[in-house]
Amino acid sequence: MKVLVVGSGGREHALCWKLAQSPKVDEIICAPGNGGTAQTGENVPVPDDDIPALVRLAKDRKVDLVVAGPELPLVLGLENALHKEGIPCFGPNAYAANLEGSKAFSKNVMHESGVPTAPFRVFDEFVNAKNFVREKGAPLVVKADGLAAGKGVVVATSEEEAIEALEDMMVRKSFSSAGDRVVVEETLKGEEASFLAFCDGEHYALLPSSQDHKAVFEGDTGPNTGGMGAYSPAPILPEEKYEETAEAVIRPILQHLAAKGQPFKGVLYAGLMFDGDTPNVLEYNVRFGDPECQPLLMRLDTDIVDIMMACIEGRLDEIDVKVRPETAICVVMAADGYPGDYPKGMEIKGIDEADKLENVKVFHAGTKLEDGKILSSGGRILGVTALGSDLADAKKRAYEAVEKISFDKSYYRRDIGDKGLKRQA
Ligand code: AMP
Ligand code: GLY
Repeated sequence: MKVLVVGSGGREHALCWKLAQSPKVDEIICAPGNGGTAQTGENVPVPDDDIPALVRLAKDRKVDLVVAGPELPLVLGLENALHKEGIPCFGPNAYAANLEGSKAFSKNVMHESGVPTAPFRVFDEFVNAKNFVREKGAPLVVKADGLAAGKGVVVATSEEEAIEALEDMMVRKSFSSAGDRVVVEETLKGEEASFLAFCDGEHYALLPSSQDHKAVFEGDTGPNTGGMGAYSPAPILPEEKYEETAEAVIRPILQHLAAKGQPFKGVLYAGLMFDGDTPNVLEYNVRFGDPECQPLLMRLDTDIVDIMMACIEGRLDEIDVKVRPETAICVVMAADGYPGDYPKGMEIKGIDEADKLENVKVFHAGTKLEDGKILSSGGRILGVTALGSDLADAKKRAYEAVEKISFDKSYYRRDIGDKGLKRQA
């Protein structure tokens, strides 16, 4: 089989790495890819938001399966366009991808299907949103409706901060049309976890729980990033709770979309907030999380092509999705300054030495391969991932691997996994 993976992050390198393990796969193309995917296959410089060019590439190269890494191409209709050409695509169609592409759509679907989530209101007019904030008082969460590269959510602790966020989105148009509409919702307290499931429109197959570390600094302080590290399983959501959680947050969504004639096929990612034992859904994503994907795929013990094809063909109930019992952890090595301004073009040394360690895999994120050298090209540069007998062992192995890698202006959090360790203690 020939597979095209769309995207260029650590998630996409992990997907290429996992796909390469399938005996069914003999060629992997990544568009546009990074320095890691250049080693698992071939990179083709087509951007992930150019749907006609991606479809042309898939047709020209006679690709048998397209795997969408990020949400943007799915929201833009990659699956729909490939479907028309008879090319299988792993990932939902544009309608179902609105679960991530529009927060108002997503909240309405949650409300209509009885999924536990924070009470909310949707606004198209700034004055109405502002009056609502004055009436309700802080704290409140203000969310731009559309995709805003992870920056469209403001957890406001004062009325002024909430109104400033509304003004920024609706009046100053800082996120262009993504902020024309906003969701204002109540603030939830607690600890977050990620819960992902393969879905075929009707059935789901659960992946183990995981936990991201969104804040840039240790102790979950500083601005939010795309994710500074992740591990799986997350003790906050133990295995004995998976089925009941999925019945509360995955099943109703599948049923709702199927009833609309728009079945959800792909990975459904529920971002959960646990206040005590009770989960509330903060958001849905319609793809693997990055960096959650890296530890999850390290644990996945079933041919990923079999799972993806079963999702597309609506026969996921025939597949036994196996997961290794060990714990996996991913530590993101970033460029100092990220998520603000950061330097690029630093040469990265020691990846091979780190990769040689037992149960370690270094996934590339913001890197490029140039004249045989690996250079940094983004804020999140590497996802150093390790499998261990438990969380403490996995953490030790991952940080040992991190120590082997060096580049100028490197920054990483040293406390990835600590929340889980504390909960276990
Ligand atoms: P979202 O993209 O909707 O997941 O929001 C991004 C981040 O904002 C989440 O991971 C949470 O940390 C935070 N957040 C979102 N909604 C809420 C809420 N209702 N209460 C508290 N924090 C929230
Ligand atoms: N790691 C969070 C996300 O992928 O959205």
